[in-house]
Amino acid sequence: MKSALLKAIGKGRRIAIVTYSLQPKIEKLIKSILYLILKQYDKEYLHDSIYSVLFESIMNCVKANAKRVFFEERKLNIRSIEDYNTGIRIFKEEIGSQRLRELCEKGRQKEIHIKILYTHTQSGLKIEIFNSAEILKQEEHRIRTKLSKGQKYQNLFDFYNDNSDPTEGEGLGLVLSLLMLKAEGVDTSNFRIGSKNGITKTRIEIPFTDEYMSEREQYKLELSRER
Ligand SMILES: Nc1ncnc2c1ncn2[C@@H]1O[C@H](COP(=O)(O)OP(=O)(O)O)[C@@H](O)[C@H]1O
Ligand SMILES: [Mg+2]
Repeated sequence: MKSALLKAIGKGRRIAIVTYSLQPKIEKLIKSILYLILKQYDKEYLHDSIYSVLFESIMNCVKANAKRVFFEERKLNIRSIEDYNTGIRIFKEEIGSQRLRELCEKGRQKEIHIKILYTHTQSGLKIEIFNSAEILKQEEHRIRTKLSKGQKYQNLFDFYNDNSDPTEGEGLGLVLSLLMLKAEGVDTSNFRIGSKNGITKTRIEIPFTDEYMSEREQYKLELSRER
């Protein structure tokens, strides 16, 4: 397994993983792929911080997919404010790692999945994480506010002191990820999250050299060529 993986990475191939829940075995695999890719470009020193960001993003996918299954199971409409408030209260009470795994496994029949795609070259690494649940409108506003605030801070301590809000924790993981990348000298525009057609995509880009062209820059270039 590992030698096949090494070979593929050595050839510069993209590596994709699809999973439904986060078992220790998969977690290990996700981690070692990241390590092997970084090692190939002598960037092992980035492993721990990038893995923290990756893991946090994957946990968000796990929670969001589980939430979707949970609401469907209870025949609650996640998009209605009343149903959302009822459901989310029970969800938060019930949820633990065992229950999360159960719900995610139930999502398997409905193809409610998580896909991780590693694209790498000498100039940089891009990790895309897709999951089958949208960012909810009710939650989006809070996230955007926290994220734009988070961009301005250099460390979590300052952010926390200025924004400690005991009623809700949403948005702290994403801010932590931004700050973690910042600490590694990665521009925060390289961390993106967005939903479209029922799928949420989280993107983490790590430039290794100045030649790296982020997805955003590529897109801009394509637009200017079209004109
Ligand atoms: N992959 C995702 N799919 C759907 N919603 C997501 C995803 N990632 C994040 N979110 C939304 O963004 C919110 C903020 O995430 P985060 O900052 O990690 O906080 P937390 O995990 O503590 O809720 C989540 O509560 C969820 O509503
Ligand atoms: Mg989180």
